[in-house]
Amino acid sequence: MRLNIESKDDIISILDSDSRALLHDLFADSTEVKLHNVGALTYYRGLIELSNKCAKDCYYCGIRKSNDKIIRYDLDDKDVVEAAQCAYRLGLGSVALQAGEIVSEKQTLRITHIIEKIKALSGGQLGITLSLGEQSIETYRQWKDAGAERYLLRIETSSRELYSKLHPLDHSYDQRLEALMALRDLKYQVGSGVMVGLPYQTTEQLADDLLFLKNIDIDMCGMGPYIEHVDTPLYQKSLETTMLSLEERFMTTLKMIALLRILMPTINIAAATSLETIDRFGREKAIKVGANVVMPNITPAFFKKNYSLYNNKPFGDQSNEEYISVLTKRIERSGDKVVFFKKGNSLHFKP
Ligand code: 5AD
Repeated sequence: MRLNIESKDDIISILDSDSRALLHDLFADSTEVKLHNVGALTYYRGLIELSNKCAKDCYYCGIRKSNDKIIRYDLDDKDVVEAAQCAYRLGLGSVALQAGEIVSEKQTLRITHIIEKIKALSGGQLGITLSLGEQSIETYRQWKDAGAERYLLRIETSSRELYSKLHPLDHSYDQRLEALMALRDLKYQVGSGVMVGLPYQTTEQLADDLLFLKNIDIDMCGMGPYIEHVDTPLYQKSLETTMLSLEERFMTTLKMIALLRILMPTINIAAATSLETIDRFGREKAIKVGANVVMPNITPAFFKKNYSLYNNKPFGDQSNEEYISVLTKRIERSGDKVVFFKKGNSLHFKP
């Protein structure tokens, strides 16, 4: 190892530095750690964005409740199951079901039913990750019992102060933490993460984010650059405050991924889609420096464009087959082998 990363100050100085030599050392170290702990392997999760209806009103997010400029949709259950079937056939190994946060008996039952169907169609072979926001422990338990094995719930920022600037008053940081702990107790593989380059965000907060993720002992991480969405309140703020440029947010995210790989060698780290919005080869670059999961979007094309978390979110119109084949070539050209027909559980997870 070339760098010494022990204290918060070490992390801050790396995040703040634009020395080429230091960057080179950081990425060489993180690549080495990746190779020795999870191998030069990338796993897919077929991402199905099953609904963009959301009861939350996060100031940064394009599908927030108060955005009346988007068309709201709900996939039919049969379309969700069909997309999962496609993932299974293509050997993606796992699917991730994502939607806006809806808390209701109906939603609990609907998702339970979908999970059961997906488990049945794959003889239990297809892994299931959920990303459906804060729910009651009972709901989390029901989904786990139905067969879901992983849950993604980003903390978005570990700073309470920043959290309160990004969310309305009724969105509680503590409640989110409790949800993460409940998921852990229920023996989900737990994923969390943050946005990088938010208005008001400091380097110290980013360093704290990494230490927070280590401290709550996540199994998986997804973190990506913040990207403005014009129909959100935070967009206005972005105009009024000094912020990192998109390129800086991109590079800082790569550094965060590399640092996290060094801090948590065996977790799964996703190369977030928002990286690709800034740099065409963003996901490949993230894989090179430590990420090992990619979530190809297999939401039926007609709906994809309405799941607009941020502006310029990519939505191709290729078939899933073509898309996966091109993506796989691109990833393999950057050095990793893509693993098919395996769930790709987090090696960090101890059941
Ligand atoms: N820029 C980047 N990421 C965003 N997300 C939501 N809005 C934005 C944005 N404007 C991310 C959040 C959320 C995930 C589903 O999408 O981190 O957890």
